[in-house]
Parts: sequence; structure tokens; C-alpha cells
Amino acid sequence: MIAYDKKTATFTLTGKGVTYAMGVTDGVLEHRYFGAPIGPSDDLSLYRGEAATSFEARVPGKLSQNQILLEAPVYGRGDYREPMLILRGAEGETALDLAYTGHRIVKDHKLAGLPTSFGGETLAITLADPVRGASVDLFYTVCDDCPVIARSARITNTGKSDCKILRAYSAALDLPDNGYDLITLYGAWARERTPERTPIRHGVTSVDSKRVSSSASLNPFAALVEKAAGENAGRCYGMALVYSSSWKIACEGAQNGTTRLTGGINDFAFAKTLAPGESFDAPEAVLVFSSEGIGGLSRAFHDYARAHIVNPAFVNKPRPIVVNNWEATYFDFDYERLFAIIDAAEGTGIDTFVLDDGWFGARVNDSAGLGDWTVNRNKLPDGLKPIIDRCHARGLKFGLWFEPEMVNPDSDLYRAHPDWAIGCPGYQPLLSRRQLVLDVTRKDVRDYIVESVNRVLRENAIDYVKWDSNRNVSDLWSSAADPNDRECFAHEYALGLYDLFDRIVLANPAVFFEGCSGGGSRYDFGMLRYFPQIWTSDDTDAGMRCMIQYGTSYCYPPSAMSCHVSVCPNHQNGRTTPFATRCAVAHLGPTGYELDLSKLPAEEKAQIGEQNALYRRDEDLILSGDLYRVADPFEGRAFGFLLAAKDKSKAALTLVKLFNLTNGERFIPRLPGLDPAADYLVEETGATFRGSTLAEIGLPLDWKALRDFDAAVYHFKRI
Ligand code: GLA
Repeated sequence: MIAYDKKTATFTLTGKGVTYAMGVTDGVLEHRYFGAPIGPSDDLSLYRGEAATSFEARVPGKLSQNQILLEAPVYGRGDYREPMLILRGAEGETALDLAYTGHRIVKDHKLAGLPTSFGGETLAITLADPVRGASVDLFYTVCDDCPVIARSARITNTGKSDCKILRAYSAALDLPDNGYDLITLYGAWARERTPERTPIRHGVTSVDSKRVSSSASLNPFAALVEKAAGENAGRCYGMALVYSSSWKIACEGAQNGTTRLTGGINDFAFAKTLAPGESFDAPEAVLVFSSEGIGGLSRAFHDYARAHIVNPAFVNKPRPIVVNNWEATYFDFDYERLFAIIDAAEGTGIDTFVLDDGWFGARVNDSAGLGDWTVNRNKLPDGLKPIIDRCHARGLKFGLWFEPEMVNPDSDLYRAHPDWAIGCPGYQPLLSRRQLVLDVTRKDVRDYIVESVNRVLRENAIDYVKWDSNRNVSDLWSSAADPNDRECFAHEYALGLYDLFDRIVLANPAVFFEGCSGGGSRYDFGMLRYFPQIWTSDDTDAGMRCMIQYGTSYCYPPSAMSCHVSVCPNHQNGRTTPFATRCAVAHLGPTGYELDLSKLPAEEKAQIGEQNALYRRDEDLILSGDLYRVADPFEGRAFGFLLAAKDKSKAALTLVKLFNLTNGERFIPRLPGLDPAADYLVEETGATFRGSTLAEIGLPLDWKALRDFDAAVYHFKRI
């Protein structure tokens, strides 16, 4: 609900479990509240704080911008904290003074060329600087099913000459105090999204990506949590960007004891010229509040992702259970090897065979073929049809891997169009995994990609696509860019990418698209808008997956995390874990197998049917359940996830013992998330417990009996 009180010039946005307020004082749009629901009888001036009022008193009629909480902070007129926007005028001027000019309700809010969350109500507030000739529309979307405010901004040049945008963040959030820790997610290939919690400090702490991708090294997510906040209690604020290219989030502890969180497009080596009359849209930032600890914050992000980001056509639909040939064959396959896997999948509950890298061009290893999206006739002389027919004969659907943004120098595409690869004049473009990146800022390049991928989808019965992207961009430069405006490449790459998704992903609504980027290197809400699930990591070791899936769940729902069972010793780190553990961990997201089913030991193969039946029975917990993290693998001993149905009728607890401490201590996990006033049957043991017992005392279990990497799975049913 959006309300405006004329008398106090206050806007109040009320969502489920959240109130957000702002107001106009002397033309300045002040931040007035963000937190748990409050009402008209609450005194917002207390939130605003003493410092602001006392300073105002000294300079009547003029706010000190450095002292107050602001919605759209800018540079040059007295606020010395991190600005949300920086514009440089034709004369080199950077001062900006934005004042409120009006507001309106926007229907079906969309940002130009960018993925935008859908649903809810959107308020647009316009601020303008008539001296500089600039205006800014601030968009706020609030919805009745999540404690979320989604923000974005549109900057318009209302002046008579060009100006340059030097920074265009999506939002700034000023909190009136500084008793918080900052949580961010860092990582690397095969070790994505490790939570890192540090006290906020005075000055600016920032996380970012300069990789033209959201990246595995840091994720476009940050949370400010009360110092005492834990998994289940404490005030927490989160920010996640609906954006897939270079980004930045900065947290500033200011001199007056306030805290500012800002973020959006990375302004590193960034500038964008705006001609008179032109506008620029900054991507969306999703702001979340929870007083239920970090777990509550995550559940709010999950709910928002499922209700307002992921394509509604897929969000609650049972997901494909795939067998993927990558770790089974790598590049070395022919019909016979693939048929053996397909045949072995029959009757196991696996419903989709995915042919991974290596089916196209002259691809026998990673040195050739990318860009040539026609079947490799040396490997597959009769094309894809015999494979697809075999799948259909065995009751399976067929999926195919693409890496549309890339090109190998050894490809017909590169030989015909060497200038289509990104490169900086004078330099030999850097190879990574022996490939270059196509300049998707160019329309002719995008047209080629759209036509060549869509042709394969048109000519073959393809139900599923895995869209990969296996390197970061270097040598940023485009021959097609305006020579006077070349500093926006990373953002224009994102716009090109989203155009590709519109013309390939959205143009093929019957095909299920999974995102991937060397595992989970492009894991963000921008991608989730197009891809209901993303390959979480190339690391398929169950031990590492406990950590990776745990960290990923800070922001992203289990329904987004695709998880496969693979062989042991694990190909990435050599670890051996029990087959049942690999399945238990791979059943915490849309599941599948990444191994040669035809070579699986009989006793393991025999378990697959039953595992998949159980997965399907409780798939609704993955797709729409509430996640409670009950044991933190980063503490080294155990991993635990409880997935509870929204109506609390059932739940599933997955525990993994990571390190068996000899004669170790007791472990009695407390299980919040169930109905305290109901009784639950534990299917595996036949025992029954009161929900309140499970929440307050915990589930008794024989923890000592478990060895390293053993899993224990318990299903709870309300009786
Ligand atoms: C990336 C993906 C893998 C696989 C390979 C193929 O690394 O994450 O799953 O598809 O590419 O080259």
C-alpha cells in the first residue's frame, strides 16, 4: 500500500511485514523509516534523529545534507558521504541539487532494456535540478506478500547540453544508527558464495565485480544485520541487485553515527553521455527487512524471488530431473556412449537427458568450435535426431548445452568475423579457456546469435537448454560504440545480454532454460528473471556443496539452485562421500545426475528410482517451502537445512556430518518453522514430537553413529 500524507509531506509504503517512509523537507527527499510495520501514531521524527534537528536549528530553513538521512544523495551540495548519483556537466561541474517536484503511481513498472521484478504497486517520485538541467525519477515498488521495497532510478537530461553520468546507483539506504555487521558473499570458481560477516566501520567498505558479470568472486548481495542478530532473531536489512554485469555495493559508517548502503552499476571506469532529452535507467535493487534474523532475511529474499522475479510459468512447476553427460564423458562421446546413459536412465525417474558441451562445430576439446552452432558431424554423423529419438523411446526429454556469447579463434565464425570478438585496439585479445567473448553490444552480433541458437531450437525437439558462459570479459572496447562515449561497455554488455535473453529465452516459452556460468559465476536476480534455476557450482562434491548451497541460500531460494549427484572420487577435489549423502545434498534443489549411469555400481543405481520418487513427492518443499538453516557448515562440524511447507503440514530435515569428532559432543538440532501447537510424525523413525518440542528442545538423534560425510534425512508430517 502506498500512502501520501500531504500535511507532513510523508510517503508511507506498507508491505507484508514492512513499513518504508520518506518525506519532503525544504524540497529534500529525506529517508524517514525502514523496518517492521509501524502506524500513524508512531513518531517518525525520532527515527530522523537529534543531529539533524539541532543542525537545522543553527541554519534556519536549510538542511545540512551531511547530517540527514537521504533517499537520493548526490555530491557537491554538502553531503560528503557516498552519493547515489554523480553527473558531470558540459563545464565540468559535478554539484547537483535535487528537489522534489512531484510523484505518481506507475502501472506495470519496467526499466528500459533491464529485467524488472513484477507485481506490487510502484511509486515514482521525481526530483529535479533546474540549474543543472537534470531530473531523477525514483521508483519504489511495494507488495503485499513480502517485506521488500524494490528500488530503481531513471536519470533524465532536461538541460540544453550533454552531460555525463559518472555514477548511477540504484538506491541508497540511510539507516539512523550503526550497530550493524555487514554480511557479503565471496568466493571463486567451484567455491562460490561464502558468507563473510564483519563489523561495519567508519568509512566506506565496498564489494564489487569488474568482470562484466556478477561473478563468483563476490555476489551482488549485502546485508546489514544487528550485532546480536543470528539465524532466527535480530533486525536485518538486505540489498540484492537485479543485475548481471559489473556492480558495486558500498557500506559507509558516517561520522554522525548513521550508516549508508548504496549499490548498483559499478562506477569503476564507467561514464555514460546523456544528450538533452535522453534518459538512463539504473537497474533494480531489492531491499529487504526482517526482524527474524538472517534466516528471516533469506526467506524474504526467497519469497520475493519466487513471487516477483522468476518466470511465473515455471516457478511452481515440477522441474526436470536430468542426467547430464558432462562429468560422464566430457568431450569424448559418440552415439554409443550417449545411448548407454540414456538407456540406463529409463525407469529411474530421471526425465531429461542433457547433452552438454562438445556437440557442435569442430569441438573435440575446448580449443575449437564455439560460435558454430551446427552439429559436429564427425562425432554425430546423423545429427542430434538419433539422440533425441533415443530419449523419446526411453521416455526422456532432451536438453542441449549452448555458450552463445563465446567464440573460439578456431571456428568458422571467428574466421568470417574476427572483429565480432571483443578486443581493444593494439592489443592481442586475451584468451581464457581458449576462447574470446563476442561483442553482444553489437546488434549484428546479437542477430547472428539469435538466429543460430533459435535455428537449432526450431529444427530439433529440444525441451531444455543450459546457457553457459565460461569466462570473464577482458579488453573492454567496442568498435560499434560512439567514439566519444566508450566508457559504458560493461553496462551495454548487460543490455545486449538481456536482449539476447528476450529474443531466445522468452521467444521459446516451451523450452526450460537453465543458467550457468562456469558453474555459479553469474548468479543474480537479473539472471533469475530469465532462468528459473542456475547451475550452482561446477563443484559437485557433496561436502563443498553443503557450503556452497548454504551460502547461496542467504539470498537465493533452493528452487533456483540446481544440484546434481556425481561420482566419487569427486572430479573437482578427489573427495569420497557416501552415495546417499550425495543424493541428500543434491535433493536440496532441482536435482539431477552428472555421471555415467551405465557404469554406476548396481547397488547405487538401484537407489536412484526410490530417491527420485521421494524427491518428486516433496518437490513442493524445494519449489515453495520455507528454508531454515539449522547447522552452519562453515563452523566445520555439520550442515543442516530444514525445508518446511508454508502451511506447516510437513517438513524435511537434511543433516550432514562434516567432521566426526571422536567422542564428540551431543547435537540436538532445534527446528523452528513447524507449527508449535501441532504434533509431527517422523517418517523415518515412527517417533512423534510436538512442534514446540522440536523448536525449543530439538530433535533427539544418534549423532555419534554418523561418520564423516554421512547424511541423515528426516521427514516430518503433521498428524
Ligand atoms: C562449464 C559448466 C559445466 C560444463 C562445462 C562445459 O564449466 O559449468 O557444467 O557445462 O562448462 O564446457
